[in-house]
Amino acid sequence: MRIRLLEPAAARRQAEWIVAMEPWRSMGFRAPPLGRWLFRRARAGCVLAAVQQHAILGIVVFQPDFLLGTFIALLAVRPQAAGQGVGRALVERVEQATFTHRRWLYVSSDSKNLAAARFYKKLDFARTARLPDLVCENRVEILWRKKRR
Ligand SMILES: CC(C)(COP(=O)(O)OP(=O)(O)OC[C@H]1O[C@@H](n2cnc3c(N)ncnc32)[C@H](O)[C@@H]1OP(=O)(O)O)[C@@H](O)C(=O)NCCC(=O)NCCS
Repeated sequence: MRIRLLEPAAARRQAEWIVAMEPWRSMGFRAPPLGRWLFRRARAGCVLAAVQQHAILGIVVFQPDFLLGTFIALLAVRPQAAGQGVGRALVERVEQATFTHRRWLYVSSDSKNLAAARFYKKLDFARTARLPDLVCENRVEILWRKKRR
């Protein structure tokens, strides 16, 4: 598996499988607007993909210059590739790029997403804040952060 920047058209195509997954499905995300956002983020050089034999196993979208660090705006691993270190590899790549010059790496997850909470704790993120109604009314996002060592 290797991690590489994803070009805009390929980034847009990933919206199809992402909207079929939790937590995005129950939050009502739709492929066309998500695809347009992925396209713009990739044009800014902020979408990385984990690729194996031309297949995209997962992607991470990051936002630099956020509260003295970087914010991971989206992390998704295809269900058939879960549990094989893809999510960890994507986060570690963003970590490496961030911690060369910034102190903090942030991410948020829906409070009902217990799998994501376990994953971010495993990667040494600390729960930092509750953000009610951030993405959807009546849902709470948890803000996580990790400090450069
Ligand atoms: C959460 C997600 C990104 C994890 O990616 P992944 O590739 O399956 O995770 P990895 O295989 O890299 O796991 C890294 C570590 O986290 C642990 N972990 C991963 N998922 C876990 C879970 N559901 N419960 C407990 N631990 C978990 C693994 O055991 C592993 O630990 P290890 O390295 O000590 O063995 C992925 O399942 C996903 O895309 N989920 C749906 C979307 C989502 O929730 N995104 C994040 C929040 S927006």
